[in-house]
Amino acid sequence: MAVLQKLKEDYPWIETPLVVAAPMRLITLAESVVEVTKAGGIAFLAAGTDPSDLPTHLQTARDLLTKHSSPIPSRPNHLPFGIGFINWGCELESCLPPITQFRPSAVWFFAPKSPSQLAQWSHETRAASPGTRIWAQVGSVQEAMDALEAAKPDVLVVQGTDAGGHGLARGAGIAVLVPEVCDAIDSYLASRSGIARPAIIAAGGITEARSAAAALVLGAHGVAMGTRFLASPEVNISRGYRDEVLRARDGGQSTVRTKVYDRLRGTTGWAENYNGRGVWNRSFVDAESGMKESENKRLYEEEMLKGDGGWGLEGRMTTYAGTGVGMVKEVQGAGDIVREVRDGMRRVLQNVGRTEKGRL
Ligand SMILES: Cc1cc2nc3c(=O)[nH]c(=O)nc-3n(C[C@H](O)[C@H](O)[C@H](O)COP(=O)(O)O)c2cc1C
Repeated sequence: MAVLQKLKEDYPWIETPLVVAAPMRLITLAESVVEVTKAGGIAFLAAGTDPSDLPTHLQTARDLLTKHSSPIPSRPNHLPFGIGFINWGCELESCLPPITQFRPSAVWFFAPKSPSQLAQWSHETRAASPGTRIWAQVGSVQEAMDALEAAKPDVLVVQGTDAGGHGLARGAGIAVLVPEVCDAIDSYLASRSGIARPAIIAAGGITEARSAAAALVLGAHGVAMGTRFLASPEVNISRGYRDEVLRARDGGQSTVRTKVYDRLRGTTGWAENYNGRGVWNRSFVDAESGMKESENKRLYEEEMLKGDGGWGLEGRMTTYAGTGVGMVKEVQGAGDIVREVRDGMRRVLQNVGRTEKGRL
């Protein structure tokens, strides 16, 4: 079956071109997920590394969707959205019960300890909830092929190095990564039978219609965004964080991939080859200039007491965000973001088609 047709069958409420709201730990909870779903996108409620509050958030989302005026077309007994897990930090046994009870349409796996951990999570999830589709986020051609071989995911989220938050420390942008992954999948499938082609979703640096349309040209079947949704009222972030996202421009210069922020916040446990992209701040500058980590941590903890005032260039609170942060200029509803980017992609692709026809 063609990949787009399968996406429409698996997620009957979606409109295409497909816009996906990536899971963001502690940030994308019931409200944002519901708004994205209502707008025809696919959203992932973030369980992150701790599923203890997950059933409460899933129930809240389910209740909100029940109150929606027109029913969302979803597969019977399945929630019309997904759950995002950071595999290395979660116990599979604690994550399976909410999957079995709530039957999300998809689960999004990220940063497993090894391909065999990804294989185990995928196998157990399929056994617990056969209708739940498996999405695996990968950051290199090698990770993509390992994931394909180990887990046969329904969807591969191909995360380029521009992405906000965590990802591979060494990476390529989606302009390079998506076509190379697509070609590698073609070769892999050409020599094997009986393996379904995964859908490709591009992530990393996409914040608006032009970059989203470009991702489709590269070979993706849809796009996922994280940073853009940080400036929507439905996500769970503080005003200081959101204001910093709105302030930052020129993301290649104003953001950096580093382990410094994780170390100061105590969110350690990520594999050595992962780090996180965030906006430069005083903590990073001090770390670069050689400040002792214990002192930097003490200052970070002091800064936490300032609340929203702790963010900014001279602040120390972390603003995880991608290089696309400079294109995030206003607060906008999560549903409006989905509709704007989707309609914009259609317009951009039509315009490119018309212009090229004129040239030939
Ligand atoms: C603040 C923040 C938190 C994130 N948390 C998660 C997470 O919990 N799980 C996950 O798989 N990815 C997480 N990501 C990465 C996203 O899945 C996605 O790859 C990224 O946001 C795409 O790049 P963009 O931010 O440029 O849109 C996070 C990203 C950000 C910005």
